[in-house]
Amino acid sequence: MDEKKHASDGIVRAGDLTRRVGVEQIRMRGVDVDRLIELLIDAAGAEFTTYYYYTILRMYLAGNEDYKEICEDARLEDRAHFEFITPRIYELGGSLPTDIREFADRAGCPDAYLPDEPTAANILTVLLEAERCAVRHVERGLRPDVRQRPAHL
Ligand SMILES: [Fe+2]
Repeated sequence: MDEKKHASDGIVRAGDLTRRVGVEQIRMRGVDVDRLIELLIDAAGAEFTTYYYYTILRMYLAGNEDYKEICEDARLEDRAHFEFITPRIYELGGSLPTDIREFADRAGCPDAYLPDEPTAANILTVLLEAERCAVRHVERGLRPDVRQRPAHL
């Protein structure tokens, strides 16, 4: 009776973990894995830095509890996004920069600094613009063909 063939036979020896099957699978689907890792690191940097900056912005919304809650939701979402993205980077064979300054500099959007005049309207404007930038940055990274899209979209 013939022994069943293992799907990895002829590709890697049993126990050889130098080639990640998940990476091979997405490469076979046409994904540039090295570019994807770099985009994910940039995205993780953006999520981490906005989490940090939103923590500061939130403190200046005390007394405007409804706006503070909006800021808090965005802050916690970005932390969750960072936590979601980071394991994927390692699963693909990448890693976060060991220097947090390098990591922060890789964020694809300007820092969401506390405005000079920290009114609720000014803080929410910073928050909104940061989120708009993040969405556009991700879309441009994943789909370079949209780089020429008109600014109003
Ligand atoms: Fe996010």
